[in-house]
Amino acid sequence: MASLNDIRSTFLNYFDQSGHQVVESSPLVPLNDPTLMFTNAGMVQFKNAFTGLEKRNYSRATTSQKCVRAGGKHNDLDNVGYTARHHTFFEMLGNFSFGDYFKEEAIPYAWDLLTKEFGINKDRLLVTVYHTDDDAANIWKKYAGLSDDRIIRIATDDNFWSMGATGPCGPCSEIFYDHGDHIPGGPPGSPDEDGDRFIEIWNIVFMQYERFADGRQENLPNQSIDTGMGLERVGALLQGHHDNYDTDLMRDLIEASAHATSQDPDGPGNVHHRVIADHLRSTSFLISDGVMPSNEGRGYVLRRIMRRAMRHAHLLGAKDPVMHQLVPALVSQMGQAFPELARGQTLIEETLLQEETRFKQTLDRGLKLLDDELLGLADGAALPGKAAFKLYDTFGFPLDLTQDALREKGREVDTDGFNSAMEEQKAKARAAWSGSGDTADAAIWFDIVDKHGVTEFLGYEAEAAEGQVIALVRDGIAIDKAVSGERVQIILNQTPFYAESGGQIGDCGIIKFEGGEARVTDTRKVAGIFIHVAQVTEGKITNGVAAELVVDHARRTAIRANHSATHLLHEALRVHLGDHVVQRGSLNADDRLRFDFSHGKALTAEQLASVVDDVNSYIRQNTSVETRIMTPDDARALGAQALFGEKYGDEVRVVSMGRADTGKGSDGMTYSLELCGGTHVRQTGDIGAFVALGDSASSAGVRRIEALTGQAAMSYLSAQDARLASVASELKTQPSDVAERVKALLGERKSLQNEVAQLRRDLAMAGGAGQGDGPEAKEINGVNFLAQVLSGVSGKDLPALIDAHKSRLGSGAVLLIADADGKAAVAAGVTDDLTGTISAVELVRAATPELGGKGGGGRADMAQGGGRDAGNAAAAIAAVENIIRG
Ligand code: ALA
Repeated sequence: MASLNDIRSTFLNYFDQSGHQVVESSPLVPLNDPTLMFTNAGMVQFKNAFTGLEKRNYSRATTSQKCVRAGGKHNDLDNVGYTARHHTFFEMLGNFSFGDYFKEEAIPYAWDLLTKEFGINKDRLLVTVYHTDDDAANIWKKYAGLSDDRIIRIATDDNFWSMGATGPCGPCSEIFYDHGDHIPGGPPGSPDEDGDRFIEIWNIVFMQYERFADGRQENLPNQSIDTGMGLERVGALLQGHHDNYDTDLMRDLIEASAHATSQDPDGPGNVHHRVIADHLRSTSFLISDGVMPSNEGRGYVLRRIMRRAMRHAHLLGAKDPVMHQLVPALVSQMGQAFPELARGQTLIEETLLQEETRFKQTLDRGLKLLDDELLGLADGAALPGKAAFKLYDTFGFPLDLTQDALREKGREVDTDGFNSAMEEQKAKARAAWSGSGDTADAAIWFDIVDKHGVTEFLGYEAEAAEGQVIALVRDGIAIDKAVSGERVQIILNQTPFYAESGGQIGDCGIIKFEGGEARVTDTRKVAGIFIHVAQVTEGKITNGVAAELVVDHARRTAIRANHSATHLLHEALRVHLGDHVVQRGSLNADDRLRFDFSHGKALTAEQLASVVDDVNSYIRQNTSVETRIMTPDDARALGAQALFGEKYGDEVRVVSMGRADTGKGSDGMTYSLELCGGTHVRQTGDIGAFVALGDSASSAGVRRIEALTGQAAMSYLSAQDARLASVASELKTQPSDVAERVKALLGERKSLQNEVAQLRRDLAMAGGAGQGDGPEAKEINGVNFLAQVLSGVSGKDLPALIDAHKSRLGSGAVLLIADADGKAAVAAGVTDDLTGTISAVELVRAATPELGGKGGGGRADMAQGGGRDAGNAAAAIAAVENIIRG
């Protein structure tokens, strides 16, 4: 028997052999379609290839596309478990032609695959065509030899496929399998077509038109083909079953659920096993595509599916969390075809375990409340909306979970009552918020949240995506349009642009729309709304249009590297300085990072070097950066660093990186573990390099390190290198010898300075250059008196010079005035034989007033003083001569 894995391969090989490019399934979160919550058909990733907007290097392709139908227009969640063919997750097999082949080839391809490759009995097959599509009918007749009664013309939209209100569309032809008259039901188009006898297995769409928002329908540039066949459906058929849940793959998951809960797979709990098996697939695939449980948007759909499965596990009597135990069975079935599943296994298991552990805490109490409420209700009466809202608000029961629980009891929920209770709560939140005195223009953002919900952020996974404009705002007022040159704040339902928070700056980039584009210079966030601060550079942007958002990749890459490096830096500082190091602020920009932390004194050069070394060694370790969602308490229990002064919601993102023997986390091996909502590199190696520009004081008890990473770090190092090389070349040496050389030069300079001082002294003694043997002494009042003004000699050299002159004179008095940059130093000396009559102190004190100073001191044989102005040296000498004269 061919397994679902075999059937998938057969399908892809079949089309591969006829020149189709085998393309990987696109992620479940569609990046090129703002109107879709999840990818729900194979053609989603090719939308722009059909319209001609995007050129690919192939014109035919084949895929097995992951699809989720839970939330939004196609919502099968409520039926899963109770029917044979509903799934929240399924695979759509498809072949596509982008202006290559059309009906004449598409129909034979499908027919041959079904009847020859798969060996399905032709007599069991019949088809539908759009009522006006004679071409398709003729091809079926001629090629497949189907009789007219097996080619059914359908006039409704059932045979005209469109992906939505806008986009590529066209008539389609569906292939049905007749399971035989033992099963009730009629052929398509008949009154009892909804029975289970005739099952649609393949839809072939002849894409030939494009619909626009204004209702126009125009021919596509090329006629194209889009087909879709549910793998689980065709698998059931080929494996001889009527129920998709009896296929090998689904059965394996049901057995795993039976094993984990010790409940018979085919007993009364069968429906629960089916729900668990289906939901295990959708939740695991969503998590591996980056969706995390939350209370908004896609994350909330994921949470609803998870909690629904968990209630069914509870109904099977499971005491411990079940879902995460089933992940290995899923990975062994599907991990080869979808490697992202195997890669994400740990994350999937952890996320399921966390959610189930947490939900279990309120599940019992919620179910008890539900039972109590039902006791008081009349037979068949709906559960009041208020009670359903309380279950939602207090016990975390999504509305559809309550509905699912009541379904078994044949009751419904008063959904209007539920909605008005929800509205009431929102109004209260708003009233509380408006009183909080936030910025004046903030009212507009609250209006937008009320009307459209918060912005879905896609930027953890993507840097480009489509979004729908839901508001244009200028100066706090909603506007309809903005034209080239005008500034405008653009709000979309979803965006890959990161809004400034947690120290990480907002993204910049481009928003493209039909006929123009806008440049985004910053992104901010208020009340969950992402505000793209932009200027229209071309054309006119109108509220409501679809737009393509492209984040500036190089800038974001640099920001990511800086943000991840900040985490490594934080941990390295804690390791080297101690646990008192706490983040006190940070900036993660594109050109640098800045990290403020509590620490009392400057880092020593050795400490800083060790920190930088550590950061670089974890960069080289190149481990993957992991992100998980958990409660703040769980995160702290794992040892996560929480940010100073930050407020956290019910859920936090925990970012971990690096492996260390003595680390944190559940295995005690994680180097850095922080609560953080920012965007990060995938592998630490992506940071490239880390260079600290130094450590400085930021405020009392807080130090600041500024640093560079990646290209900026390399450019900085190159510039340093170039400076060193030029210094080396000036010094006529190698860069490696520069330090030695500078040391030697400084030593040389010191001894030259000493030598110069000595020479000056010698010169002074000699009376100056060209003055013979030395300055002449003159006789005043029988005393040999020598006076000299010296330049380039420092005050502290004067005593030695005085002594030298005294011994040369034998008997007499000496006055020296040193002129150092206009300032004067003065010294006087008297030989011992004369100190009885003349005091050197007296001589200095006579000189200093003339030099703009006063006083002076010392002994009778030697005294010193100073003044502001050496220009008056002659007057000072005259004053001293007067003293000697008596
Ligand atoms: N896009 C077509 C479908 O989803 C094939 O049925």
